[in-house]
Amino acid sequence: MKKISILGLGYVGLCTAVSFASKRFKIIGVDVNSEKVKMINEGKAPIYESGLDELLKRSVDSQMLHCAEDCGYAVRNSGISFITVGTPYRPDVSIDLKYVKSVAKSVGNALKNKEEYHMVVVKSTVLPGTTEKIVIPIIEKHSGKRCGLAFDVCYNPEFLREGSAIKDILNPDRIIIGEFSRQSGDRLESLYRDFYENKLPPVIRTNPSTAELIKYVNNCFLAMKISFMNTIANICQEIPEADVTTVAKAIGLDRRISPLFLNPGLGYGGSCLPKDIRALVSFSQKLGYKPSLLKAVEEVNILQPYKVVRLANRLLGKIRGKRIAVLGLAFKPNTDDLRDAVSIEVVKGLLKENAEVVVYDPAAIKNAEKLFKDKVRYASTALECVSDADCCIIVTEWPEFKALKCEDFIRRMRTPVVIDGRRIYDPEEFSRKLIFAAIGLGVL
Ligand code: UDX
Ligand code: UDX
Repeated sequence: MKKISILGLGYVGLCTAVSFASKRFKIIGVDVNSEKVKMINEGKAPIYESGLDELLKRSVDSQMLHCAEDCGYAVRNSGISFITVGTPYRPDVSIDLKYVKSVAKSVGNALKNKEEYHMVVVKSTVLPGTTEKIVIPIIEKHSGKRCGLAFDVCYNPEFLREGSAIKDILNPDRIIIGEFSRQSGDRLESLYRDFYENKLPPVIRTNPSTAELIKYVNNCFLAMKISFMNTIANICQEIPEADVTTVAKAIGLDRRISPLFLNPGLGYGGSCLPKDIRALVSFSQKLGYKPSLLKAVEEVNILQPYKVVRLANRLLGKIRGKRIAVLGLAFKPNTDDLRDAVSIEVVKGLLKENAEVVVYDPAAIKNAEKLFKDKVRYASTALECVSDADCCIIVTEWPEFKALKCEDFIRRMRTPVVIDGRRIYDPEEFSRKLIFAAIGLGVL
């Protein structure tokens, strides 16, 4: 099997690289960030991702993975290149394709002097039409060659979740192949047959635009489930004794709904869901269609983090000058990623009311210090964070917070007031033993 090059070593690129390397594929990883390249070549993971450290060390030690900064070298010395650079959004909400364009140009320049046929697979999340109208023309222009002859292109989205990226890559629900030509689709499908052996999941073969759209629709549907449950949570909040977690459990037993992604809380964050729904809304509007349902999903999510600020005001009378302990900063457990984390809005809301904020997170403190600087205090454990606090808010549902008992709060807090933003505690016990409020829990 020819070597594979992975262009862009973020969550998607690096986890894809080590997953392929773990199956004895020879990988050349490329990234413009030289510090990241150096760390990876030393077998050290630049990101916090479960299972990555071990797989990365094994991949580097077995020489199945080597990284470089030179995209041209990687393309010339591999048969297939995956483009996995980030596609952040601009302030005007549109998707910033500068990284995708820059890598496509480097690939084109490398193909100019390459004789052998080359496959290019775009994995980065891009809007429908991008692969065919932007990526392919750039590669053709800089290589002087025609797509479908000297090289081919597919769009192949990834559905990995941070915190379980490698598991999701090794056990996907499906493979989506948006092929420029039947030949390119066949080649990519055969690569995945080799990779998954007898565990090949269902493969959907389609055109690049439909494949690009599938990625967005998948994320928007997940976001919709979350905003739907948060809408019901907000209704439950005003109904005495109603509990949204019971409602979620009950409807989740309906096989047509499924229990997954029905967790009510402070809304969705991360580098994908917020960005992707914004992008699909603006894309649809440019096409002349106003996607009111998607707009509503966004609007619910934007307001959700402030629910806990309001609950804190309700419980404390006012929060000015009070010490508020925030447990959890990462946009979800098992990651250190703060991109679009709801904790950012929660902390902003608390500071705006002149509360004194102390924060703790098992993995994201380093990233948080770059963001919040000296506006908040940083604790090194959960118990230190809640000590002498007037109120504690659960923002990210880390397992170590679930393990905290009522006594932990009662013994350490100035006033034992707990707001469960992610529904990790038993409301019956916590309401009995301390002053307790929770998203989606109606009070008597
Ligand atoms: C992934 C998908 O690629 C992206 O489309 C989706 O929106 C989010 O998930 P992610 O892996 O999280 O992105 O990207 P990120 O963590 O931002 O890493 C991208 C990597 O590409 C970075 O390491 C960056 O240094 C590198 N990069 C960026 C390049 O190597 N070349 C460039 O020109 C730009
Ligand atoms: C998401 C998609 O799940 C994944 O398929 C895609 O490839 C990238 O975007 P990710 O952003 O890593 O993955 O995390 P995910 O587990 O989807 O959680 C996203 C956000 O939704 C988090 O902030 C999480 O706290 C929140 N969430 C998730 C809820 O609030 N309720 C839920 O039930 C599930």
